[in-house]
Amino acid sequence: MSVNVQSTARPILDPARYSLQDHERQFLELLTGIYDDDELKKHVLAVQAKAYQISAVVVVGNDTRKVAVDGWPAENIVASDLRGEFWDCGHELFKSTPESFPATFIAGDVFDSSMLDMSDIQADAEAKQPPSIRPLRGLTSLTPLKHQVSAIHASALFHLFPEEGQRELARRLASLLLPEKGSIIFGQHGAMLEKGFRVEKKRSTDPLFEVRQAAMFCHSPETWKKMWEEDIFGPGESGWQRPEEMKIKVEAELKQVERWDADLVDNDAKPYFVMNWSVEVL
Ligand SMILES: C[S@@+](CC[C@H](N)C(=O)[O-])C[C@H]1O[C@@H](n2cnc3c(N)ncnc32)[C@H](O)[C@@H]1O
Repeated sequence: MSVNVQSTARPILDPARYSLQDHERQFLELLTGIYDDDELKKHVLAVQAKAYQISAVVVVGNDTRKVAVDGWPAENIVASDLRGEFWDCGHELFKSTPESFPATFIAGDVFDSSMLDMSDIQADAEAKQPPSIRPLRGLTSLTPLKHQVSAIHASALFHLFPEEGQRELARRLASLLLPEKGSIIFGQHGAMLEKGFRVEKKRSTDPLFEVRQAAMFCHSPETWKKMWEEDIFGPGESGWQRPEEMKIKVEAELKQVERWDADLVDNDAKPYFVMNWSVEVL
């Protein structure tokens, strides 16, 4: 495992940490229809407390909703995560329903073959008549989406896995990509100036959660580009031959970010970088 968490309990939720940047507040106001600051805070904290009973990290589909707000038809969006309850929390937080926000959600482990079957990727790539995927609502796995997705967003995901896991995840996401000019896979996650492990020890004021130690495998922009260009889209790799004419461009850049918990982090874990990246079909 890339992340080694040593603790017996989860940290206590601290409402004092509630803080929204302007664009976040505006986004929540727009979707929830709650324009009163106190009422919005009460609503967000109530859903957060409920979600926290499911998992310490519950992802509620904010990125999919942003894409829809920006103009991508919600009917053409597919979101995926380990558990369906996460998506339900999103409906509660954003006061939506499957009818008012008709994006498709598919629950499952992206590494599991029942979620994404990679066994015959070459034949799938060469299939003249790809299986019909409409309506997307009917999908129960990612497998029918192979070679059919024009934009794939994966943020705060890759850094959850060790190096080999990151490569396998990249291979799996690449298998979903529509091999046409303009198709893109992009995202953001933790990275470093040099490839390696980012080890951090975090102290807490919470007595139940005194020290947490974690090691996260991080690529550098150079090794990240190399992985996509050689391991994923290189000749003879990934278990399928991309068409001769299919060229890709990989971009990756580091951005140093301030962490709200910086004063609790010991040792060499500072500064903290994220990498903005994209893999685009030319
Ligand atoms: C830190 S969140 C980031 C999600 C979102 N992109 C964002 O930026 O808010 C990472 C998500 O990946 C999901 N995840 C972790 N391992 C997974 C797996 N093997 N298959 C599918 N989802 C996974 C977790 O459940 C979690 O919701």
